[in-house]
Amino acid sequence: MTKKVLLLPGDGIGPEIAAEARKVLNVVNDQFGLGLELDEALVGGAAIDAAGKALPEDTWAKCQAADAILLGAVGGPKWDNLPPAERPEKGGLLKIRSGLDLFGNLRPAILSPQLADASSLKPEVVSGLDILIVRELTGGIYFGEPRGIRTKENGVREGYNTYVYDEEEIRRIGRVAFEAAMKRGKRLCSVDKANVLEVTMLWREVMEDLAKEYPEVELSHMYVDNAAMQLVRAPKQFDVMVTGNMFGDILSDAAAMLTGSIGMLPSASLDVNGKGMYEPCHGSAPDIAGQGIANPLAMIVSAAMMLRHSLGMEEAAVKIEQAVDAVLDQGLRTADIWSEGTRKVSTAEMGDAVVAALQV
Ligand code: IPM
Ligand code: MG
Repeated sequence: MTKKVLLLPGDGIGPEIAAEARKVLNVVNDQFGLGLELDEALVGGAAIDAAGKALPEDTWAKCQAADAILLGAVGGPKWDNLPPAERPEKGGLLKIRSGLDLFGNLRPAILSPQLADASSLKPEVVSGLDILIVRELTGGIYFGEPRGIRTKENGVREGYNTYVYDEEEIRRIGRVAFEAAMKRGKRLCSVDKANVLEVTMLWREVMEDLAKEYPEVELSHMYVDNAAMQLVRAPKQFDVMVTGNMFGDILSDAAAMLTGSIGMLPSASLDVNGKGMYEPCHGSAPDIAGQGIANPLAMIVSAAMMLRHSLGMEEAAVKIEQAVDAVLDQGLRTADIWSEGTRKVSTAEMGDAVVAALQV
C-alpha cells in the first residue's frame, strides 16, 4: 500500500532543509519498504512568484489528497508588503492549517544531552528537559472576525482583531492535551490570561470540566506572562502545556530556544483523524537563506514525527531519530548549534551525515 507524502519546501531556507529531509525519507523508504510516494508542490512566496498566489489550486488539491504533508517554512521580506490575506503566511500556511482543520499542534521541546552547552540557560536548568506544548492552531486571534484596519470618524486609523474561542474548540484541543499527558508524565498546565480576557476565562472553565474525565492527570493553570517567566526560570517543572494559538506561538519559540536552537525542533499539526502536516518550529530565516548553513535537523525530525503520527511507521521514525542522535554524538554541528570543540558543517553535510548514519 502506498502512502502519499507531499513535500512543500516553501521559502527562505525551506528548500534547502527540504532537500535534506527528502534524502533521508528516500533512504528509509528503501530500507523499510515503506511505499512512500513523495510529491512536491509550491507554497508561500515561491508559489506567489510562480503562480500568482500563495496556495495555488494544484497545491491545495495535492494537500487534500496527501496522507501527510511535510512543510519547510514560508515567508520573507520580498512578500511583506502584499495585503495580509495574500502573504505567504496567511494566504498559504494558515489556509492549509485551517482548510484541513489541523487544529492540534504538538510542539515538543526536548534537549538533546549533546547540546546542553548550546542552550542560553545553565546546563543544570535545562538538562533532561522534555516539554510538550499543545497549541490550538486554527482558531483564536489568528482567525477571529472581525479583523482589519479601519479609519475612525476622527480620521485616525485603528487596527483590530478578535480573540474568540467557542467551547467546542477549547474542548477538542483540551482533549488532545489530556490524551498526550496520559501518555507522558500526567501533568498538564493550561496557559491563559483569565485575569483579564473573558475568552480565556471560558478556556479555563472548559479545561476544569474536561479534567473530570481524566482523574489521573494533574491539571494546573498559569497566566501566560507567568508561564513565559517560568519557562526561562525553571522549565523542567512542565510536562505538557496547552494553550491558544497566539500564546502557543510565543511560548513555543521560547521553549524551543531552551533546547539550544530553534533549528532542532519539529512540530505536528493534526486533524481529528490524525492526518497531519509536519513542519519545523522555526521560520524561513531569510537572513541565512541560500548560504547552505541552515540546520536541517528540525525538518528531518519532523519527517520522523510524520512517519510515527500520521503513517504508523514507528520503526523508521525511531531509526531517523537515532541517526540524528548519532551525528550529534559525532560532534557535527551546523552554525546555530556550534560550540568550541565541535565540527561546523553545512546543511548538506549534516543531511549527508544523517543518511550515512542510517546506513550503518
Ligand atoms: C509558527 C509560525 C507561524 C505562526 C507564522 C509563520 C504564520 O510563527 O508556525 O509558529 O505564527 O503560526
Ligand atoms: Mg511561531
